[in-house]
Amino acid sequence: MGTHRTGPRYCSPLQRLLPCLLLLLVPRLPPSRSASLVTHLPGFHGRLPFHLETGYVGVEEETGAELFYYFVESERSPGTDPLILWLTGGPRCSGFSGMAFEVGPLNFVLEPYDGNLPQLVYNPYSWSKIASLIFLDSPVGSGFSYAHDPKGYDVGEISSSLQVVTFLNKWFSDHPSYISNPFYLGGSSHAGKVIPVIAHYISDGNEQRKEQEINLKGYILGNPITGSDFVDFNSRVPYAHGVGIISSQLYEAAIENCKGNYVIPTNRMCDEVLNTFNSLISEVDHGYILGDKCAILAPKPVNDDVVRDRFLLEENIQLDPSPDPTINCFSYRYYLSNIWANENRTRDALKIKQGTIGQWVRCIKGFPYTFDVPSSIEYQLNLSTKGYRVLVMSGDHDMIVPHLGTQAWIRSLNLSIVDDWRAWHVDGQCAGFTIAYANHMTFATVKGGSHTAVSYRPKQGFSMAQRWLDGNHL
Ligand SMILES: *[C@@H]1O[C@H](CO)[C@@H](O)[C@H](O)[C@H]1NC(C)=O
Ligand SMILES: *[C@@H]1O[C@H](CO)[C@@H](O)[C@H](O)[C@H]1NC(C)=O
Ligand SMILES: *[C@@H]1O[C@H](CO)[C@@H](O)[C@H](O)[C@H]1NC(C)=O
Repeated sequence: MGTHRTGPRYCSPLQRLLPCLLLLLVPRLPPSRSASLVTHLPGFHGRLPFHLETGYVGVEEETGAELFYYFVESERSPGTDPLILWLTGGPRCSGFSGMAFEVGPLNFVLEPYDGNLPQLVYNPYSWSKIASLIFLDSPVGSGFSYAHDPKGYDVGEISSSLQVVTFLNKWFSDHPSYISNPFYLGGSSHAGKVIPVIAHYISDGNEQRKEQEINLKGYILGNPITGSDFVDFNSRVPYAHGVGIISSQLYEAAIENCKGNYVIPTNRMCDEVLNTFNSLISEVDHGYILGDKCAILAPKPVNDDVVRDRFLLEENIQLDPSPDPTINCFSYRYYLSNIWANENRTRDALKIKQGTIGQWVRCIKGFPYTFDVPSSIEYQLNLSTKGYRVLVMSGDHDMIVPHLGTQAWIRSLNLSIVDDWRAWHVDGQCAGFTIAYANHMTFATVKGGSHTAVSYRPKQGFSMAQRWLDGNHL
């Protein structure tokens, strides 16, 4: 609890005076914006045990594009705790995914759907115990975000990253008491590709003082895509070999025939090897190789090799399952979320503007999206010299972005090791392995973790976040 729970935020407490004064000196942003306090949610018994605000922030005037967010205040010390903007992958998975399936305060009760509203409970491993969290429906078209003009839905990695920066500038100007809190970006999968880009623009903006300064301290990436196919996807072959999905013979044939390129085969032999590889890995859930293989939406047909990496990306984000998954599937929760979010009483409780979107889907396809950042690695290289803290975590049972590829690009930054590879522990048990590099770069595996690293290991994920955010060793 605390003094920050209710009512609008003012700059009255003394310690908040400075940021407020600074704010007065920078160009005024037009006031937006709708923010609503949400105390109850359908399916959740009683009053929410955390402070939830939802709202919209306009990010593009010409098209009337507005991004929808969920803001959960830290349950510890919101005045000083970090603030994390959490993005989800896809592209175009809803921020609600982060809220209910990754690090946020809600969990669906895993019960067969019987026509009644799916039930929600509090997630005891919510990162909101130690940090304030913003879950953003970005880019436009995700979740409840929308544009008046259809052109607003046509975005890419660069333009949507700039819109996130616009969102932040406006959000902070509406929530000035948070300007001084340590600020972090975080997210998984494809979000891991745009987060360094967003960090780059924030860093640039701070250097040029275009807007009020954003107190960016660093970022957290979970099983991040970098955009470099040879880094992200080549490692699936050695990974599948290491965990016993493909034979040593096939692995050797791949090395011999594909010459280090397992993404786009350049000869017939390699093509054959990769066909066998693809048929073997199709036996398992790519995002969590121990899990049951569950229904996923059939990927779009692919016409050319250039889009193959996108195809791989889209295929694997566990798009909204069709036909419906069975209850043994993790994705059954996604199915429940699609029912829950489309109930009128849910929309009313979240203060969704009428007529802005039709059907809500957890991860939506069909809007244009341009992959215009070739690789996030150069951004990270530049950022790593500027003092930002970085935590990269890899669920070690993910074959979509295997930890091997992630380790490879981190090594390519040539940072010296400051704390060599070792186990990290929770409750006296190994929870994964970690290595720390110079320039505040920490890598950690989450033992038994999936593509969204902490979804299957919430307790371990929470401990990791707490230690890292508090500035301790894992
Ligand atoms: C939900 O609200 C919309 C718009 O007001 C209405 O058309 C629809 O029938 C409602 N659905 C239910 C299940 O009540
Ligand atoms: C990285 O920094 C170099 C040198 O300042 C600059 O030329 C380059 O454009 C930067 N790259 C990115 C992606 O920001
Ligand atoms: C890292 O070191 C290797 C080997 O010395 C070199 O080829 C590469 O360019 C270096 N990369 C960076 C980012 O400095």
